[in-house]
Amino acid sequence: MELLVLFFVLTSFFDISFSQRYNALFNFGDSLSDTGNVVISNLPYGMTYFGRATGRASDGRLVIDFIGIPEGIGLPHLPPNTARNVSFHRGVNFAFIAAPALPFEFYHERRLSKGLWVNASVHQQVDRFEKLLPSVCGTPQDCKDFLSKSLVVFGEFGGNDYNTGIFGGLPVSEVRSTFVPRITQAIAEGVERLIGLGAVDLIVPSVLPVGCFPLYLTLYSSSNPEDYGPRSGCARKFNALSWYHNALLLRQLNRLRHKYPAVSIRYADYYAQVFDFALNPLKYGFKDGALRTCCGAAGMGRYNFNLRAKCDQNGSSVCPDPTTHVSWDGIHMTEAAHRIIAQGWLHGPYVNPPILSFINPH
Ligand SMILES: *[C@@H]1O[C@H](CO)[C@@H](O)[C@H](O)[C@H]1NC(C)=O
Ligand SMILES: *[C@@H]1O[C@H](CO)[C@@H](O)[C@H](O)[C@H]1NC(C)=O
Ligand SMILES: *[C@@H]1O[C@H](CO)[C@@H](O)[C@H](O)[C@H]1NC(C)=O
Repeated sequence: MELLVLFFVLTSFFDISFSQRYNALFNFGDSLSDTGNVVISNLPYGMTYFGRATGRASDGRLVIDFIGIPEGIGLPHLPPNTARNVSFHRGVNFAFIAAPALPFEFYHERRLSKGLWVNASVHQQVDRFEKLLPSVCGTPQDCKDFLSKSLVVFGEFGGNDYNTGIFGGLPVSEVRSTFVPRITQAIAEGVERLIGLGAVDLIVPSVLPVGCFPLYLTLYSSSNPEDYGPRSGCARKFNALSWYHNALLLRQLNRLRHKYPAVSIRYADYYAQVFDFALNPLKYGFKDGALRTCCGAAGMGRYNFNLRAKCDQNGSSVCPDPTTHVSWDGIHMTEAAHRIIAQGWLHGPYVNPPILSFINPH
């Protein structure tokens, strides 16, 4: 009985202190978390939430939105870095749709830069952050104090780099050996720069199992059943690439954890959750399975995906209920999927300890 009372006193105490734990949220990354730095889409993007296209590559909110909302860490919607006339004192988002982790030059040297239309690499996003900081928190010392109470989500990064290499025609084996070590190194360098500026609480997401995405499944379909996971139906060789990235990323993060023992660097496992969507779609209410696009080429091929009828373009249509789909447009996910992913970061098990671990000690 007394223990029970103590438990409630403690949890309500932590509940109060928790909502004050973070003064701000800073996010870096690509289309998985861009909240409006690049607005190229139209409705039906935004149809489920916001009611208009906000630049989010989904029918509604993204994982980073669900991290911030009152049920999460309780901060306002994250303004994009390019927004005018808004306050960045509770946080700001440096993520850009189509952002690669590596700089333009890396692709230019390999004649792969044609498809790159934003310059927002890891280092360029951190440059922007560094430039903005004085206007948010003042002197470098004041900013260290400020950032010591902020949450930083760094990524996901890498998805567009792999798209650029693979869509550019490089063999997966070459992308694996040439890109992955450099990309995971660049992510670690970005994390280290943020630590230098004062960040002490960082979440670093993995890349996704892109072999489960309709875009990859459609462009690289194979007649050999061995190329697919027997239970997931995902394309093995692309998931193996993601898996390798995540293994090297974890190695980098472990190195940084040893170097900076006072800093919390948590890995966010997008991969495991999204792969579980493919294995057990019904467990999450994805009645149409995990591999068919909601917005796109309804009824075309196995995956409702066709490059000539992409979401929001001529010939595309929207499924009756986006909450029954993982994939929104073939490469990005639905709000329903993002909500579930965010739950796994806030309460576990896909961030460990979970972001809200002081409220939910189990
Ligand atoms: C900028 O914000 C201020 C205060 O909210 C407002 O009074 C002003 O009209 C805004 N300016 C523009 C150009 O939106
Ligand atoms: C990105 O930067 C490079 C120079 O580093 C430049 O050549 C290229 O045009 C830029 N791309 C865009 C989209 O601004
Ligand atoms: C889309 O369809 C409309 C109406 O049929 C047509 O006017 C327009 O040119 C088409 N746009 C493209 C990009 O094909």
